[in-house]
Amino acid sequence: MNFNLEEVLATLTKAKSNVKRRLEDLARIGRDPKGGVTRLAYSQEENFAFDYIKRVGISYGLIAKEDPVGNLYLELPGSPSEDLVIIGSHLDTVPQGGMFDGTVGVICSLEIAKILSQAKLKRKLVIAAFRGEESSRFKISLIGSSIATGQLNPNMLEAKDSKGVKLKDAIRSCGFDPDRLREAVLPLKKIRAYLEYHIEQGPVLEAYGCPVGVVTAIAAPVRYKVSFSGEWAHSGATPMNLRKDALVAAADFVLTVRAICARRGDVVGTVGDLQIPGGSINKVPGEVVLYLDVRGVDLSERERTVQEIFELTRKKAESYSVSMNFMKIEEKFPQKLSNQIIKFLERACDLTNVEYLLMPSGASHDALSFSKVGVPTGMLFCQSKGGISHSPREFSQLDHILAGARALLVATYMLTTASHYS
Ligand code: GLV
Ligand code: MN
Ligand code: MN
Repeated sequence: MNFNLEEVLATLTKAKSNVKRRLEDLARIGRDPKGGVTRLAYSQEENFAFDYIKRVGISYGLIAKEDPVGNLYLELPGSPSEDLVIIGSHLDTVPQGGMFDGTVGVICSLEIAKILSQAKLKRKLVIAAFRGEESSRFKISLIGSSIATGQLNPNMLEAKDSKGVKLKDAIRSCGFDPDRLREAVLPLKKIRAYLEYHIEQGPVLEAYGCPVGVVTAIAAPVRYKVSFSGEWAHSGATPMNLRKDALVAAADFVLTVRAICARRGDVVGTVGDLQIPGGSINKVPGEVVLYLDVRGVDLSERERTVQEIFELTRKKAESYSVSMNFMKIEEKFPQKLSNQIIKFLERACDLTNVEYLLMPSGASHDALSFSKVGVPTGMLFCQSKGGISHSPREFSQLDHILAGARALLVATYMLTTASHYS
């Protein structure tokens, strides 16, 4: 096929019903009776979603390859080139998450591969679905793409979920082999581009009335486990002024994080998990553990914010006679995305008459892993209704999804064929 833009876009428009059906099919895998979708990293549900995508890819004529940790690659056959262009995203969700996060990118990428299987490409096109992008289960994010880019510290395989299951055992129970991490590393020097299409997960595109975003930079999280130790005591017999209440110190911590980050503007901080192990309605809490996630696109701003949080909260904890300890459990680094790829994506939006906004990503993505190791990386967003994500209420209109897919199709074609691109 010669690349006739109008014909190709018309083919993509016809694939709209496929996109809808496949999103709905995936939403049934791990549907949570309490609402939304629960498809955690290395769970049976994630396995089923991977099987589903593998079957679709094979039915589209793609060659399926799994690496030793379960990342899935679907290759367009017939390309003699060793140079790769990878487009993809992830299939896992947070507990009671939405049906669009990750899935939009994988499903649209598959439709694009199907269309481009009729074209003559100079570089090999590979659709990727990565394992365990969400940090919900093991408190480690981007597991599959970190392994694929050679960045997962093997110690992280010892991380445990809330039931005490280690990441390495979860990988094994899905039929994969955590001892073969090295074999899962992609030939990074041969990857000419990594593109990821994703829902925005925030309110900016809707506020601007714009269907699509071209991402300029990705914010990254640093995460801490913070423990507060006071004294367990009787809730009736202990006067208020004699308590060492760990939860009161923790509550102050949560509010301090909010106040400091609100002042800074470009950094966001969240306590999304807090536990009182052994807590009871009639006990003054003696132990509290919480998890802090701080993100920003500017590393030094993020570092200053974290320093301010811990300085202030330590003093506050002391004032409640509670000691506070913290341990860094994960650190990722913000990335500016490739200017060259941004130009391709802008050009693709212009050629397809898709209105777009240049914007940073507050959420983290597998694209971060690729950008970090120097692969030219780009991302497209489509609008999220109400800016809501990681929620059963997550929603993106099919027309907006298709608008971004049009730009992704053209950008992918350009990157797999342009001779002046290196
Ligand atoms: C993934 O969605 C994240 O940013 O935590
Ligand atoms: Mn997510
Ligand atoms: Mn995602």
